[in-house]
Amino acid sequence: MASRLTELLVGQPEAIDTILPYIQMHQAGLAPDGRPMGVVLLLGPTGTGKTRTVEALAEVLHGSSKNMLKVDCGEFQMEHEVAKLIGAPPGYLGHRETQPMLSQAKVNGVCSENSDVSLILFDEIEKAAPSMTRLLLGILDKATLRLGDNSTVNFEHCMIFLTSNLGARQIQRATKPDFGYEAMLPVVQGGEQSRLQSIGMAAVRRKFSPEFVNRIDSVITYKPLDRLACEEILDQILMGFARLIHTRLGMRAFRLMCTPAARSQILDLGVSLEFGARELKRTVQRNFIQPVAALVAQGQIPPGSTVLLDASKSGEFNILLRQ
Ligand SMILES: Nc1ncnc2c1ncn2[C@@H]1O[C@H](COP(=O)(O)OP(=O)(O)OP(=O)(O)O)[C@@H](O)[C@H]1O
Ligand SMILES: [Mg+2]
Repeated sequence: MASRLTELLVGQPEAIDTILPYIQMHQAGLAPDGRPMGVVLLLGPTGTGKTRTVEALAEVLHGSSKNMLKVDCGEFQMEHEVAKLIGAPPGYLGHRETQPMLSQAKVNGVCSENSDVSLILFDEIEKAAPSMTRLLLGILDKATLRLGDNSTVNFEHCMIFLTSNLGARQIQRATKPDFGYEAMLPVVQGGEQSRLQSIGMAAVRRKFSPEFVNRIDSVITYKPLDRLACEEILDQILMGFARLIHTRLGMRAFRLMCTPAARSQILDLGVSLEFGARELKRTVQRNFIQPVAALVAQGQIPPGSTVLLDASKSGEFNILLRQ
């Protein structure tokens, strides 16, 4: 499992090392009763792999990255929106129409034949309304949630992930100090992880109550990705594209290649300190997949040929066809 996860989640080994023991405890039947299997807080800058971690885990456990329940806390910023999560009480207007998002059926529905673990992701918890944070407390502590119709949902077979960008800016500054006070300090190598963690946790403590913070089993701090990690992510994206061509086009399939200049240009455009690797996929899509799709649509790519992406010195992409 660890090696599969390492392939899917690039450059964040700490995340894998932290999460796997909770899964193993559950698989060994040694996870405590009356609590979720584990509650893990994922902190760090945008586009560094927080959501990707849960998707990768879903892929490895269930065979599909979609086998997880994701709650965007940004959608529950107002007190009244919390009814969407637990459903309205009987007798209230719209009671029958509001299907609770966190019903037992939904929680069980993200397991698979391979594993009974449900992965639940609460994204951007800092945006949740206070009443939602109170609901979360019950889930994290006792693994139960009472719905509007008074039934309860059990979360004992759930691995719960909370993500947040709290402290992300400070974490970024501490890892790549190019100006200001931090630039004068030596970049800490050993013990860096614990330093980043304490920066993140300080921000979390400022925002959430001690009860909430105490219910978190582990905190993972995601580092900004370095160039090598981004290259690996680019390889993943390109391999995904190649796989798509083979499965979708069958006999009409062709090979894909990228010159070093084109790779470098994609990385320059798709990776930034501000958005991490978030734009990488879109950059490949815009400059490679879409133009290739246009050529396919016009029937201009002979089966078995090679499509090469190149970039000129001024940074313009060119698509070349080779027999
Ligand atoms: N460590 C990583 N390994 C593999 N792919 C990654 C990694 N980090 C980012 N990516 C790529 O960037 C995209 C965005 O990453 P992800 O959704 O995990 O970001 P995030 O950390 O959850 O950011 P946000 O805080 O904005 O939600 C992914 O779909 C993936 O293509
Ligand atoms: Mg995310």
